[in-house]
Amino acid sequence: MIDALKLPKAELHLHIEGTFEPELIFTIAERNRIPLKYASVDALRAAYRFTDLQSFLDIYYAGMNVLRTEADYFDLTLAYLKRARAQNVRHAEIFFDPQAHTSRGVAFETVVEGITAALREGQARFDITSHLIMCFLRDQSASSAMETLDLAIPYRDRIIAVGLDSAERDNPPSKFLTVFDRARAEGFLTVAHAGEEGPPEYVWEALDLLHVSRIDHGIRSMEDPQLIERLRRQRVPLTVCPLSNVRLHVIPDLDHHPLKRMLDAGLVATVNSDDPAYFGGYVGENFVQAAAALQLTDYELVTLARNSFEASFIDDVTKRKFLEEIDAQVSVRAGR
Ligand code: ADE
Ligand code: ZN
Repeated sequence: MIDALKLPKAELHLHIEGTFEPELIFTIAERNRIPLKYASVDALRAAYRFTDLQSFLDIYYAGMNVLRTEADYFDLTLAYLKRARAQNVRHAEIFFDPQAHTSRGVAFETVVEGITAALREGQARFDITSHLIMCFLRDQSASSAMETLDLAIPYRDRIIAVGLDSAERDNPPSKFLTVFDRARAEGFLTVAHAGEEGPPEYVWEALDLLHVSRIDHGIRSMEDPQLIERLRRQRVPLTVCPLSNVRLHVIPDLDHHPLKRMLDAGLVATVNSDDPAYFGGYVGENFVQAAAALQLTDYELVTLARNSFEASFIDDVTKRKFLEEIDAQVSVRAGR
């Protein structure tokens, strides 16, 4: 059996605010003299019992309330990169939620400067490359998203794409048509969470209206045979997050996760961690636990690792280098 932790991987679905471990929440809260509702790290962790996406989002937005300074965003991001590199993540495409910070009075500049300083440090110290993706909160208005896009224009060279996250139900991609049109005109790539809790129609809208390069989650696409065919034919990558789906009760347990069916259908599925501090594991644990529950073969694990680079926004030459590295590791094991 291949050791999934050792395979070179790209992580493509990771909310930096979702890597905020309880210990670091307490450290930063103390540093900023912000009182917390919970008496201890254990008490906070005990509150991580979610019934659906919204019940998670309530705790997720409360946790990030202690982030105030550039140093806070730096420490948060560097801690993630260190953990990711320990599982042989070689490249990460990282989401951040600017509206969850600017709405509390933290400047957009503070957030981006702190995160990008850590991304540079992570590349130098851990040899991990990265891209940054700015998400709009879909349960906020389209005009708030447009104002956020305005703030991002001066940082165009540091943000590769825009995305769409937060509460999916009743917030279809079509609500953000104009914002995404403008983002693409400004040179941003686009991605969107779709088909996590929301219906397959939202995946169609993300493709046809927002012209996304990837679908984040997309697991409910499996309810629509025509959509499966479209995703397969156009090789649209899906950034799947198995442990997240179980913790948020989108699926009953890992044994019933559609990841294997997605691979069987010829889809470009990838494995990711979403919000690892909240869902019980980083990308390595997602690989290992999904592989055990679904009896994934070595071939399927290697396919998932290869897909992660193929679906990334890395340039073609670097992509080929990573793919060759995976193939070399696999052929050494096979004694070829
Ligand atoms: N923001 C952070 N995690 C998310 C998820 N799983 N779905 C939607 N928005 C999110
Ligand atoms: Zn997500």
